[in-house]
Amino acid sequence: MSQFWDQRYAGSEYAYGKEPNEFLKAEAARIPRGKVLCLAEGEGRNAAYLASLGHVVTAVDFSQEGVKKTQALAKERRVNVTSVHHDVTELDLGTACCQGIIAIFAHFFRSDRRALAARIVKALAPRGVLIIESYRPEQIALDTGGPKDLDLLPTLDELKQDFSALAFAVLRNAEREVNEGRLHAGPSATVQLVGIKPG
Ligand SMILES: C[S@@+](CC[C@H](N)C(=O)[O-])C[C@H]1O[C@@H](n2cnc3c(N)ncnc32)[C@H](O)[C@@H]1O
Repeated sequence: MSQFWDQRYAGSEYAYGKEPNEFLKAEAARIPRGKVLCLAEGEGRNAAYLASLGHVVTAVDFSQEGVKKTQALAKERRVNVTSVHHDVTELDLGTACCQGIIAIFAHFFRSDRRALAARIVKALAPRGVLIIESYRPEQIALDTGGPKDLDLLPTLDELKQDFSALAFAVLRNAEREVNEGRLHAGPSATVQLVGIKPG
């Protein structure tokens, strides 16, 4: 699976652009200053943005090419991002250590999602903020980006259950025009979540 992403990221082009995800940009101010973990961060556009806001950012992805591009973008932007080359579903995320965790277009298999959600909740510090934007099953028919496999696409109800330990500041289905690189382009069906750990 990581080979697929290595091939996608092999050229000089940034597949999803160098600018951050629009939803993240709109909601990032909610994250208390501190440590932020970017899950399945790809080529680093969101990590570089969060680092530019003054956070201490770690970006995790299982694509080595993604890690290289993340470091190149951080250098270009003159910010520090720590890269971890690892499968997110097998990584110890720690306990109460993160002021923020983000997962933008991070599509994991259904069988991995619930356990990963529990580890995300555990890793958030009190008042820490989780930000997710993901394609949802309705996106398949729109064909404007994202996985074609239903098993990789969560619903709003699933996220609501998996992250029920958090207080939701945002939890909604969104129909929006996504223009984030050549591969995410056009009218899209996403689910957006901002969850805050009680504390
Ligand atoms: C659509 S890209 C999104 C990248 C980035 N979050 C962004 O918004 O630009 C999906 C990323 O998920 C990564 N990924 C998928 N499953 C993963 C896993 N189990 N562990 C680590 N990375 C994973 C892929 O390597 C790819 O970089």
